[in-house]
Amino acid sequence: MARILLGVTGGIASYKACELLRLLVRAGHDVLPVVTASAERFVTADTFYALARRERPTDPYPHLQDADLLVIAPLTANTLARLAHGHADDLLTEAALAHRGPVLVAPAMNSAMWEHPATRANVAALVSRGVELVGPASGELAEGEVGVGRMAEPEEIAGRIAALLGGHDRSSPLRGKRVLVTAGGTREPLDPVRYIGNRSSGRMGVALAAEALRRGAEVTLLGANLQVPAPAGVELVATPTAADMRREALARTADVVLMAAAVADYRPRRPLTGKRPKDGESWHLELVPTPDVLRALAAARSDGQVLVAFGAESGEEGLERKRRMLQEKDVDLVVYNDVGQEGIGFDAVDNEVVLIARDGESHVPRAAKDIVAKVILDEVERIVTAQS
Ligand SMILES: Cc1cc2nc3c(=O)[nH]c(=O)nc-3n(C[C@H](O)[C@H](O)[C@H](O)COP(=O)(O)O)c2cc1C
Repeated sequence: MARILLGVTGGIASYKACELLRLLVRAGHDVLPVVTASAERFVTADTFYALARRERPTDPYPHLQDADLLVIAPLTANTLARLAHGHADDLLTEAALAHRGPVLVAPAMNSAMWEHPATRANVAALVSRGVELVGPASGELAEGEVGVGRMAEPEEIAGRIAALLGGHDRSSPLRGKRVLVTAGGTREPLDPVRYIGNRSSGRMGVALAAEALRRGAEVTLLGANLQVPAPAGVELVATPTAADMRREALARTADVVLMAAAVADYRPRRPLTGKRPKDGESWHLELVPTPDVLRALAAARSDGQVLVAFGAESGEEGLERKRRMLQEKDVDLVVYNDVGQEGIGFDAVDNEVVLIARDGESHVPRAAKDIVAKVILDEVERIVTAQS
């Protein structure tokens, strides 16, 4: 069961939010409706409270309660714009600004409004902050025309909510735990404009952060040049270089550390302070090893902290090296991914990994990174439970 804030804004599709609310209550969720003044022109707030089996709240800030998920269905063009710009001039937009967790919105409006550049920009702003969209669908709109803008059906929205809450379980051993995730690829400057980097997009680490959040953890994400948006609700700290990553990782205490970032092993010894002009001459670089963040974390680790290392190598030999890493670096779990294979690992949507724990190994077949993240966190939960 999860606690869900259901925002309802003023469009014809408001009546469909009643059905959505019924589905969520039937699924066992605790739903708090937040109905805008415009939405009340279509369906009264009392209808939503009755369906949610709640009294109309007497608390002036019911919407500021801790919630696992904020859903807004339907989402008007107006509220979409206010969310994009961070307004807080009614209960729903206040709630959205105060909410720390995943957000799902189901826009509904006519095609012209949906396609307007202002709406496109507002949608892009929300997506860049990790807000998830369901719909709008194509079909018959309120005005009788056909086009994109119809709110997704309540069953589809309820399905997305179930997927977002995923293994969401108030009894997860990660609930209330501090989880630190590193993601992305560091870039080591050669001069102010050039760098040595790698192809990591940050997708795996972002999927892990989202999954840990779903399980009720307080998540900090150290992001190195992320190519994908960080999930709404995590604390994001930019760590573009290996030195930044090391400093920020060592400055934090966490119950679980997931080191999914591709941190540079080498950096230029002396980055230039000004841009090197093109002069036709060769440029000889000296690369020096970067300090090992994982080793430093293992050395500094507090009692009961679970440390998970990620290693990208190739083939059986790479797997052997990762098996040795478990002992050598004193970590609890090593996630090995074979970057020699096409279509998985760096900058790919899918992954396929081997989980190497102290008491055994398991192979996770190729799947989308968010599925792989669930399996990794199931294993982390097992280790956390065994250690407590
Ligand atoms: C009959 C009627 C239907 C409307 N349907 C929509 C709609 O589907 N989508 C939308 O963005 N606005 C729609 N509007 C306009 C909104 O109600 C209006 O922008 C309002 O200010 C939204 O307020 P809210 O976002 O605070 O709920 C409709 C207005 C009327 C009168």
